[in-house]
Amino acid sequence: MMLRSEIIGSPPVAIYQNGRSRVSQCLMSWKTPRTDAIPLTRSSTRCRSPIRNTTGGAFAAGFEVMSFFAHAAALSGASEYGPVLMTTADRHIQISGTVESGGAAESHIVLPVTDSPWWHATTIYQVYPRSFADSNGDGIGDLPGLIDHLGHLVDLGVGTVWTSPFFASPQRDVGYDVSDYRSIAPEYGTLHDAERLITEAHRLGLRVMFDLVMNHTSDEHPWFVESRSSRTNPKADWYVWSDGRRGVRGRRRPPNNWRSELQLTRAWQWCEERDQWFLATFLPFQPDLNWRNPAVRAEMFDMVRTWLARGVDGFRLDIFGSIMQDESLRDNSRRPTMAGGIPRIQTPNRTLNTDDNIAFAADLRDVCDEFEGDERILLGEVFGHPATLRRYLRDRGRNGLHAVFLFDFLAAPYDASRLRVLISRYEREFPAPMLPTYVLENHDRTRSLSRLGGDLDKARVLATLLCTLRGVPVIYQGQEIGMTNHYIPLRDAIDPLPAVTARWVPEFVNRRLTERLNRDEVRTPMQWNASPCAGFCDDSVQPWLPIGNDHATVNVATERADPASLLSWYRLLLGMRRDRAALHEGSLTMLDPPPGDDVVAYVREAPGERVLVYANLGAHAQSITVGTAHSVLAASCDRVSLSDAQLALPPDSAVVLGTTASETPVTVLGV
Ligand code: NOJ
Repeated sequence: MMLRSEIIGSPPVAIYQNGRSRVSQCLMSWKTPRTDAIPLTRSSTRCRSPIRNTTGGAFAAGFEVMSFFAHAAALSGASEYGPVLMTTADRHIQISGTVESGGAAESHIVLPVTDSPWWHATTIYQVYPRSFADSNGDGIGDLPGLIDHLGHLVDLGVGTVWTSPFFASPQRDVGYDVSDYRSIAPEYGTLHDAERLITEAHRLGLRVMFDLVMNHTSDEHPWFVESRSSRTNPKADWYVWSDGRRGVRGRRRPPNNWRSELQLTRAWQWCEERDQWFLATFLPFQPDLNWRNPAVRAEMFDMVRTWLARGVDGFRLDIFGSIMQDESLRDNSRRPTMAGGIPRIQTPNRTLNTDDNIAFAADLRDVCDEFEGDERILLGEVFGHPATLRRYLRDRGRNGLHAVFLFDFLAAPYDASRLRVLISRYEREFPAPMLPTYVLENHDRTRSLSRLGGDLDKARVLATLLCTLRGVPVIYQGQEIGMTNHYIPLRDAIDPLPAVTARWVPEFVNRRLTERLNRDEVRTPMQWNASPCAGFCDDSVQPWLPIGNDHATVNVATERADPASLLSWYRLLLGMRRDRAALHEGSLTMLDPPPGDDVVAYVREAPGERVLVYANLGAHAQSITVGTAHSVLAASCDRVSLSDAQLALPPDSAVVLGTTASETPVTVLGV
């Protein structure tokens, strides 16, 4: 019998199960050849650290060996796996072990081994838990639903799941208003479910990142309820309070000119009980914590340690650039500016990316680094010029965040010259071993396919760049199947933003805006199949947001069966990225575009492997001379052709080429 499976998100791996199992995979390079055998005990296959310790540097392999054997055991119905023998030879690592299923079955696997940290090669998949999968029939997605659907992530070929917040919260900003960082909102599940999410994801070879909202809490958090009650209570200084100023005729005024991140409202809210202003950088019901108070630091860092101790692999950090503002509350400059594709009516020189905030990143990094084993990573939601954002990674001799979002790419028009400029800038500002990140959409911003006018050819082109550039790609749930914005009028918004910022916007104007004011439109339930509720919840249940109109065709089940679907294209790209060292750890060199300015082209290179990417974003076909030693590894449409070293690229198409001379051989063991 032959079982086909997608183990740990790699391209199909064959397991032959006729007493003996053989598995083979293609590999990337092993920097320091080893020839010694490393016996691993059964228990060490379940635990990351011993493997990492014994192989010194083979971090990723350690983790994936465990996943492979757990998965192989699950596939064969076996309850045990191991012991495992790990041997390394020139640039390859081979792991052999036994899966017990009736008669023992032997397995061999050759796995990617790298001495770069695990997250360099990963792809992050953002889950918005309320809209992912409902397991208990209340129309709201939850943690057990997410756990049940982790297989989709494995199948897609991503390596890390990032979940938007599911902590206790009044849900006025759908979880980004936390009222207890240590417990789970009941509609999402229990603490046990959160722990199970970590262990189940790890069992499948996925990493897990949670979403940390450190800038603010909900105004219903017991800390704020206490803090606002008087100027003398024990939590009086847990938030940022100020008496403010007096204006003409003694009118009370906030202490300075700071605007909220939403720009249209001021950053200060009045509190009658204390006769004082409190800072709320985002929405009025999200008061900013006072991180200059050592008690706040101690409590929050302790909470972070608690989740790290439970095994979480890292955090996405919500509006991380705004945590520490100017201590003496000086005014921002009045000059308008742009950051991350968002226009600002003042330059946030006293509120955003301050020196104190950048030093804070390093303090948080120290907390993560207390934990032994594989690195726990920090990915910051920050806005600003790449040269500023780079300081979050390393500044004044201290390591800070591991990576930052670079939202200019998400906001950039579909235009080859603009994208080339951005990619070159990121390459300049984040040279190796730093890594840029690439993102096309998230739960706050318009769906990328909608921005592209629903053009799937263009979506394939952007997907190609996303998955083949030098950086960590981040994919938002549903992006892989081409989900689009689902129009919901402002008056029906559950999202609190329209009520604060867009009350005055007439609906006919709203309808025409590219960037959505009502974020509900990009948060509709994940479309799993063609059933009335798209497989998100039971068809008899009312989902918390409407199901997309296109779910009969745009859904995982339908696209999974269609080799020409966007989902199949993402699977192909992610499999290639995972298997080819050039794509997940290679250098990137921009190639000169052919005349006309419509092409983005670059080479990715690792020892012994070279991959070229060409994307034609223009309305005219391109003919490009590429040399003879190339072959097409993947083409976004069937009209792409390569013959006699001439590459023909139709409008809105992309191609990934391998260099024949240095193709990585696929090693098949013992077959
Ligand atoms: C950024 C998050 O992505 C967004 O959804 C949230 O509303 C704000 N931060 C406030 O936490």
